[in-house]
Amino acid sequence: MGKDKYSVLLPTYNERENLPIITWLLCKYFDESGHDYEIIVIDDGSPDGTLEVAKKLQEIYGDDKIVLRPRAKKLGLGTAYIHGIKHATGNFVIIMDADLSHHPKFIPQFIKKQKEGNYDLVSGTRYIGDGGVYGWDLKRKIISRGANYVTQVLLRPGASDLTGSFRLYRKEVLQKLVESCVSKGYVFQMEMIIRARQYGYSIGEVPISFVDRVYGESKLGGSEIIGFAKGLLYLFATT
Ligand code: GDD
Ligand code: MN
Repeated sequence: MGKDKYSVLLPTYNERENLPIITWLLCKYFDESGHDYEIIVIDDGSPDGTLEVAKKLQEIYGDDKIVLRPRAKKLGLGTAYIHGIKHATGNFVIIMDADLSHHPKFIPQFIKKQKEGNYDLVSGTRYIGDGGVYGWDLKRKIISRGANYVTQVLLRPGASDLTGSFRLYRKEVLQKLVESCVSKGYVFQMEMIIRARQYGYSIGEVPISFVDRVYGESKLGGSEIIGFAKGLLYLFATT
């Protein structure tokens, strides 16, 4: 469809079981909707052999569709995006988790939304319309809701889901945002959307359901929560 190309950045750390399924689903939805795409896997030296699985997938789907940009060790999600975007050849970039919490079926809706409003970025949201979270325990729900709520009150960012990370960006917009973002941990997602508002970029939203992972485990822990709180205060003080 036209000349638009979508580069999907998939950061992986111990996603051996999930990677084949998410890859298959991505290819299916892109092929069905007729959009040009590539999937950039950024594996951080996963000890479970994720990279070997990715290599097999590359043999199956082709190296124009599956691009491998591994790093030797676990350097964090924020820098994984910075690394991945350098290799993106699309004019749009999609960021999502590889653990099936973000379903590729929403991507055609992101693309449609972007075209409707000619948006600079489209953000998946768990907090409006049919959006929601499935499989999280109460503690995790409270943390996510709480983080969103406090941030909404402090920063009034004009987007309903600040900590989510299923988004579509114009490549140059993402480039500009990652260059200006200072935070490294989980607060990164939030800083991105807050800076987007700061720069006057337009934001479209698509309700998504976030389903907790079945395979493997979350890398979010107490230190990330403290990092988030610090990052939030920093943003409050500086934006
Ligand atoms: N390359 C790389 N390096 N990938 C990583 C790293 C890393 O250091 N840490 C995590 N990942 C990958 C995981 O393999 C997965 O594909 C994705 O990043 C998200 O990691 P999870 O550990 O599954 O995150 P989560 O489910 O706890 O958190 C999700 O929800 C948060 C709150 O809504 C993510 O979407 C977060 O980005 C989001 O802030
Ligand atoms: Mn996850």
